[in-house]
Amino acid sequence: MTLPGAIPDRLYGRRRGHPLRGRQQRLLGATLPRLAATPEEVAGLPRPLWVEAGFGGGEHVLAQVTAHPEASYVGSEVFENGLCSLLSRLVPEGGEADAPLPPRLRLWPRDARHLLAALPEASVDRLFLLFPDPWPKARHAKRRFVHPALLPVVARALAPGAEWRVASDDPTYQAWVEEVLPASPLFARALTGRARPEGWPPTRYEAKAVAAGRAPIYWAWRRTTESASDTRSDTAA
Ligand SMILES: C[S@@+](CC[C@H](N)C(=O)[O-])C[C@H]1O[C@@H](n2cnc3c(N)ncnc32)[C@H](O)[C@@H]1O
Repeated sequence: MTLPGAIPDRLYGRRRGHPLRGRQQRLLGATLPRLAATPEEVAGLPRPLWVEAGFGGGEHVLAQVTAHPEASYVGSEVFENGLCSLLSRLVPEGGEADAPLPPRLRLWPRDARHLLAALPEASVDRLFLLFPDPWPKARHAKRRFVHPALLPVVARALAPGAEWRVASDDPTYQAWVEEVLPASPLFARALTGRARPEGWPPTRYEAKAVAAGRAPIYWAWRRTTESASDTRSDTAA
């Protein structure tokens, strides 16, 4: 499945930060290839399969992988320094090429939307979207991960009953989630709260937001049995 034409490929912010130091280059050159998986490889992982879009520094990935060794977990991140941050916590200095790695962890170092579009139907059991880039200007709404045109792509990849966890501290994005998701027959609200639910590990971005006085909202949406192809729209703005 290709991404609907209404979804631009542009991403928020930078893909590269400071120039990479030696350790970071080794992590990307020697560790990342040990974890990077194609959609076909991801589809072959044992279920349940959990996917995290935009893991930032990877705190939530690590916490979930540690707490749930029974799940296959694919972390997606486009920012190289974020990838290095997670990789550096996974392997000790010098162990980039051969230190043991969590057996059911895989990485998709690209746009998570392309992974979801390439995975087989109903292959994902849980999706995490934690503090997505806000794209606060209305004219940039199409770049938001939560978008009417992307919902069928997400829904097609999710198994019926699968959970989609979303969190945001941004008032515009919070209102947007409340506008877009309840209007879709593909998802049903399972939870909305101002307190981080149990079993939902914190992230770095979230800690910064709370320290700055912003109040996150946490949602869980359940994939319904409604067909995603019936509601697919290639033209929605
Ligand atoms: C605001 S940060 C939040 C990071 C992390 N989830 C947290 O809560 O600390 C958003 C992250 O999503 C990544 N990102 C944005 N769009 C993405 C996409 N389509 N696929 C994968 N990663 C993406 C960005 O590079 C950035 O690191």
